[in-house]
Amino acid sequence: MLLLAVTLSVLLLLLFNLLRPFLPAARPPPLITKPSALQNLLAETFEHIPDIPGAPRVLVLYGTEYGFGKEVASKLCAQLAIAGFAPRLVSTLHYTLLDLRKEKFLALVCSTTGDGVPPNEAADLRDALVNNKFSVPENCSFAVLALGDRAYPHFCRAGVVFDNLFGDQGRMLERVDIDQEDWPVIDDWIESFEAALKERTAEGDDDDDDDYLPPAMEKYAQAMENCTDARYSRTQPFKARIVDQALVTAPRTGKPDDKEVVRVEFDIEGSGMEYEVGDAVGVVPRNNSQHVTRLLLALASNGDEQVRVSDKGDLITIETALTDLLDVKTPKAELVVALAQNCTDKAEMALAKRILGYDVLRSDGHSASSLSDWGKDYLSQREVFDVLGEFVTSTLTPQELTDLLRPLHARYYSISSTPITSPTRIAVTVDVLRYSMLNVEREGVASTYLKDRCRIDQTEVGVFVSKNPNFRLPKDEDKHVIMIGPGTGLAPFIAFIEERVETEATGKNWLFFGCRHEKQDFLYGDRLREYEEAGQLRLDTAFSRDTDKKVYVQQRMREKGCELWNLVEDGAHVYVCGDGGRMADDVDRALREIIQEFGDKSEAAAKGYLEQLVEDKRYQRDVWVS
Ligand SMILES: Cc1cc2nc3c(=O)[nH]c(=O)nc-3n(C[C@H](O)[C@H](O)[C@H](O)COP(=O)(O)OP(=O)(O)OC[C@H]3O[C@@H](n4cnc5c(N)ncnc54)[C@H](O)[C@@H]3O)c2cc1C
Ligand SMILES: Cc1cc2nc3c(=O)[nH]c(=O)nc-3n(C[C@H](O)[C@H](O)[C@H](O)COP(=O)(O)O)c2cc1C
Repeated sequence: MLLLAVTLSVLLLLLFNLLRPFLPAARPPPLITKPSALQNLLAETFEHIPDIPGAPRVLVLYGTEYGFGKEVASKLCAQLAIAGFAPRLVSTLHYTLLDLRKEKFLALVCSTTGDGVPPNEAADLRDALVNNKFSVPENCSFAVLALGDRAYPHFCRAGVVFDNLFGDQGRMLERVDIDQEDWPVIDDWIESFEAALKERTAEGDDDDDDDYLPPAMEKYAQAMENCTDARYSRTQPFKARIVDQALVTAPRTGKPDDKEVVRVEFDIEGSGMEYEVGDAVGVVPRNNSQHVTRLLLALASNGDEQVRVSDKGDLITIETALTDLLDVKTPKAELVVALAQNCTDKAEMALAKRILGYDVLRSDGHSASSLSDWGKDYLSQREVFDVLGEFVTSTLTPQELTDLLRPLHARYYSISSTPITSPTRIAVTVDVLRYSMLNVEREGVASTYLKDRCRIDQTEVGVFVSKNPNFRLPKDEDKHVIMIGPGTGLAPFIAFIEERVETEATGKNWLFFGCRHEKQDFLYGDRLREYEEAGQLRLDTAFSRDTDKKVYVQQRMREKGCELWNLVEDGAHVYVCGDGGRMADDVDRALREIIQEFGDKSEAAAKGYLEQLVEDKRYQRDVWVS
């Protein structure tokens, strides 16, 4: 079925491209004039306010690093508005504008990032609470939804911390911790929160008409307008020209385990953006136009229909929405629900029932986001287009599809340059994601955008700097640094090493690097060897597939355990970076064992020693799980 759908779509795609000149011309996307800071702030905050006079106000505060927290908080607002409340959506970044004495209800949706810390935008709020400069007063009832991922050691830690710092007096609901994007559990929490609000507002508690928030925002936004130091962010990225793009792996040979890693440089001149080594850059990708076209075909659309991506958003063409704003990769359960409600074919209905675990025509109170275990697995192996192809008797309008897709999120890349030599250029090292699923070639949105669809000196890409204060070189240049970075985990370390060399740091630099094949994916191999030969770097490598027995960085660390321990005892700072919670766990275990063996410590004492290193900011990790 899938193969048939794919073959058909390829044929239709060809036909569509042939006929395209004869179809009504797609209007150029509307010129988007830059809205003022105030417009942005007010639009976001009050987007969900319903036209119901006297609707009880609810403050929905979110802290997000990668955008999911805002997605959840927006859904909460939309649901609350339907239930007759007046939700106001505010980022934790703007907590100073809030007067909680005038807020009766507060929901905080907050993720955890880094090695168990709050997102950047929520860090100041955390500090203010810790230092008693901000608090949740008794009159304000609150509930916390903590977002996280069990693959990380400190599951939902930021949410836990906020929940504790808010105190006990106003808690309306027990905190719920969310593992990844578990929408059914999120929906349950939203329902419980709504029920708790209804219970508390049943008495008809009138809201104060004198609303402090709009004037506070106005004042703040005016100050922002006058501020020459423009702050580019996830929601307002800087358009940076690509000024260099080069492979740092050998050209692909076609073998299945070939790696393709590219170094890309952005020109940030004139942006006012500053960065430090250890920071990451957020990249706002664009979807592959072929993937957009096949979706348009499935909708029988020429791309020209006007849609709104959010309730009060501007009208834009469906083609622009699918290219720039919507995630066309990850299908949601709600998409299957909508298709099932529309379809006329029995086999399609049966498939929907199997995916969802219930019959949509008799939903029996199931949440629109619930899936059977089989359905979770099924959807995780399919993209939006695949799912549409399974429900050919069902039709969706462009607006309906828009409403059923998730927002397209920025992707993050550790910075591989140093401002010492490149103050107006930011380099990143990108592993280009290509894989096969269900016998169809697939690709990562952002990594292939940067590799295949961006041109040197021609393409401008939306970027912003994502600060990482928890991943910094020691200020003291005579401190040693030990860097453990397999694969693209090397990305920040190439900048660390360059900066240490440029600043003539006297401490030792020791890198453990691992990859599959020395000849194929030894990233920056020549440069690293040069540093090594110049005595500026000690390099230990693990090429896992060049020998009969696989070897990884943690083995190399164990082999050099005694020297490693001596350097740590001599005050070295240890850094771990890369893709994979498992890698980070393995490295962590190796470190603990080394401390235990060479430091002659018990298991508990070695664990304590490592915890103290974390406390002293001498053991810092920047690990992501794909
Ligand atoms: C702080 C931070 C720093 C980072 N630094 C770097 C860096 O320096 N370099 C770097 O390359 N990346 C880095 N990443 C990862 C990067 O942000 C992206 O996640 C990565 O490039 C993939 O994005 P994409 O858009 O290309 O892929 P997406 O379109 O996001 O696709 C990824 C998804 O594809 C699916 N998928 C992937 N492989 C398979 C498979 N084999 N089978 C089935 N499904 C699969 C999975 O669902 C996966 O979630 C970093 C991430 C973070 C959070
Ligand atoms: C670099 C990185 C570090 C993370 N660290 C943690 C962590 O320490 N604990 C945790 O529970 N989740 C962690 N997560 C998972 C995120 O909290 C989770 O993906 C969440 O849904 C992201 O929400 P956001 O997009 O709103 O930031 C991490 C994710 C990334 C990408």
